[in-house]
Amino acid sequence: DTPALVDTFGRVATDLRVSLTDRCNLRCTYCMPAEGLPWLPKEEVLTDDELLRLMRVAVERLGVTDIRLTGGEPMLRPGLEELIGRIGALRPRPRLSMTTNGIGLAKRAGALAAAGLDRINVSLDTVNPDTFRTITRRDRLSHVLDGLAAAREAGLDPVKVNAVLLPGINEHEAPELLRFSLEHGYHLRFIEQMPLDAQHGWDRRNMITAAEILARLQAEFTLSPSAAERGGAPAERWLVNGGPADVGIIASVTRPFCAACERTRLTADGAVRSCLFSNDETDLRALLRGGADDEEVARAWRLTMWGKLAGHEINDAGFAQPIRPMSAIGG
Ligand code: GTP
Ligand code: 5AD
Ligand code: SF4
Repeated sequence: DTPALVDTFGRVATDLRVSLTDRCNLRCTYCMPAEGLPWLPKEEVLTDDELLRLMRVAVERLGVTDIRLTGGEPMLRPGLEELIGRIGALRPRPRLSMTTNGIGLAKRAGALAAAGLDRINVSLDTVNPDTFRTITRRDRLSHVLDGLAAAREAGLDPVKVNAVLLPGINEHEAPELLRFSLEHGYHLRFIEQMPLDAQHGWDRRNMITAAEILARLQAEFTLSPSAAERGGAPAERWLVNGGPADVGIIASVTRPFCAACERTRLTADGAVRSCLFSNDETDLRALLRGGADDEEVARAWRLTMWGKLAGHEINDAGFAQPIRPMSAIGG
């Protein structure tokens, strides 16, 4: 057995993304239906002790150096600050980040930073209240804007903003989102929409591509390729008006970055996945609850990652969406 999470293509997964819950308090139209989804029953969700054990195995035995907390909406998990404190006590200490919709962040950013959260990515597709209500089906834009400001004031650094553009809804707001982010010192990234919505409504012809995003931004800004090391990061970065500020584009569909992928994922119910787009999951919860020791868990995790595919097949004929939607895998 090798200690690290390697696959047959020679990639090494050092970045663990953990979904803390499949629930969410927004209802983004590109993610889930208005009525929500059949959430996981509580007994199927990993407990804090189970989560901590898997994260400990990941950093001690599998070479994981970075942990990102996701959801659903991770702040809906009870006791999040305490969980973060316990993650920060793992050795070697992983770098710790979170991807959130920002609801409730205004009140909690300070406590999250104090508990050990290093940085944060906040989803924000628009700075217009009406558009926000159309996209998320909730009237909470001000909560997210206040949350972003609180994150910056709490010293979370960088504060990133993730934006998905939808045709006819907010595609024209790209320059406005960039102006807003520059003004406040947030690092903005635009994301191409992927076929991961619960309704299976994704349609390539209705996706705003990286090329279109660039063209919209270039109408107002001068963009030049950033020389910053990309590594396994999904975002391609562009310097804005000569820099130092930049804007990222996550072109998962039109310019896939699977060849440099460093990610392994854990769902809220304890399944490890080698890719967003793979249905090949291993139920680590069953191992934990069946009394397996750390090395047995580590071995099952390594085996799953060994089987990681070369890349997603969104652009291939016959592509089929994975069974779990994004909200149940972790963004
Ligand atoms: P940092 O760059 O480390 O801040 O994180 P990140 O960009 O990986 O994290 P974040 O959770 O903010 O993800 C932003 C977007 O990147 C997601 O919404 C996805 O669209 C995309 N993304 C993240 N991980 C993957 C992945 O494994 N595959 C693909 N295709 N897209 C991903
Ligand atoms: N394609 C691309 N990004 C998505 N997100 C949610 N669903 C999709 C999708 N189908 C984004 C959210 C959030 C991040 C975690 O993923 O807007 O910023
Ligand atoms: Fe919630 Fe994120 Fe899905 Fe929006 S995209 S409904 S914030 S999980």
